[in-house]
Amino acid sequence: MLRTSRRPLALAGAGLSAESGIPTFRGAGGLWRNYRPEALATPEAFARDPQTVWEWYAWRRDLVAEAQPNPAHHALARLEHEREAFWLITQNVDGLSQRAGSQRVLELHGSLWRTRCIVCGHEAEDLRTPTPLDTACETCGGRIRPGVVWFGEGLDSQVIAKAQRLVEECDLLLVLGTSARVYPAAGLIPLAVQNGARVIEINPDPSGMSSMVNGLLQGPVGELLPRLLP
Ligand code: OAD
Repeated sequence: MLRTSRRPLALAGAGLSAESGIPTFRGAGGLWRNYRPEALATPEAFARDPQTVWEWYAWRRDLVAEAQPNPAHHALARLEHEREAFWLITQNVDGLSQRAGSQRVLELHGSLWRTRCIVCGHEAEDLRTPTPLDTACETCGGRIRPGVVWFGEGLDSQVIAKAQRLVEECDLLLVLGTSARVYPAAGLIPLAVQNGARVIEINPDPSGMSSMVNGLLQGPVGELLPRLLP
C-alpha cells in the first residue's frame, strides 16, 4: 500500500517517541498515571500555580534535550524526502521529528520549544536547556507560558484546518503510536476513512480506532516502520 500510494500521510502520537525514552501519556508507564492533567496541563493550573507547571515542562524539555530521534523518526524523514506530497501530522510537542530531518511537520499541539506571553501574546522560540524558570516576555515583561495546547483549549484553527485538508486529500494514512483518544486529532482517522483513504496503524496495542483501519501492525513503530520502506 505504501509503495503504490500517491499521497501518503502520517499521524503520530506519543508512541512515536517512546523508543527515544520519552514517556507516553496513557498506558503502562504513561505520564497521566502519575500526574493529574488538571494540575499540570490546563490554563487554570497555570493561573493557579505557574511555577509547578513550568517545573513540569522544564523536566520534559530537559528530558527531550537529552534524548535522540529513533529509527521511526528517521524513517519519516526519509519518507518526506522520497515523497513530494508527504506530511507528518503530529500530536507530539518534543521536536524529535524535526531533529531527525523532517520539515513538513504539522504540530497539532504546539511545541515544548516555543513560548507565548499571556499578556501580549508574543510568541518566541526558546531552545535553552536546562530550562530557565524565571523568564519574562522579551516584548512586554509579562508572564510567559509553554507554547503547547492544554486541556480545555482549542487548537490553532489554521493548523487543524490544514491537517483536515491534508487528510481529505491523502490516499494512505499511517497512524503511528497514538491511543486516538484526544480530539480533534483522533477525528482525523475517521475523516481519512470517509474520504476513501486506506489506514495502516502501527502500535503494540490496539487503539480506539483500530476497528476501522485496513491493517494493524502490532509492535513498536521504531522496529516496524523502517521495515515498510524499501
Ligand atoms: P497516548 O499516551 O495517549 O498514547 C500513546 C500510544 O502509543 C498508545 O496507544 C501506546 O500503545 C502507543 N505506544 C507505546 N509505545 C509504542 C511504540 N514503541 N511504538 C508505537 N506505539 C507505541 O499518546 P497520544 O495518543 O499522543 O495532549 O495522546 C494524545 C494527546 O494526549 C497528547 O498529545 C497529549 C495528551 O494529553 C496534549 O498535551 C494536548
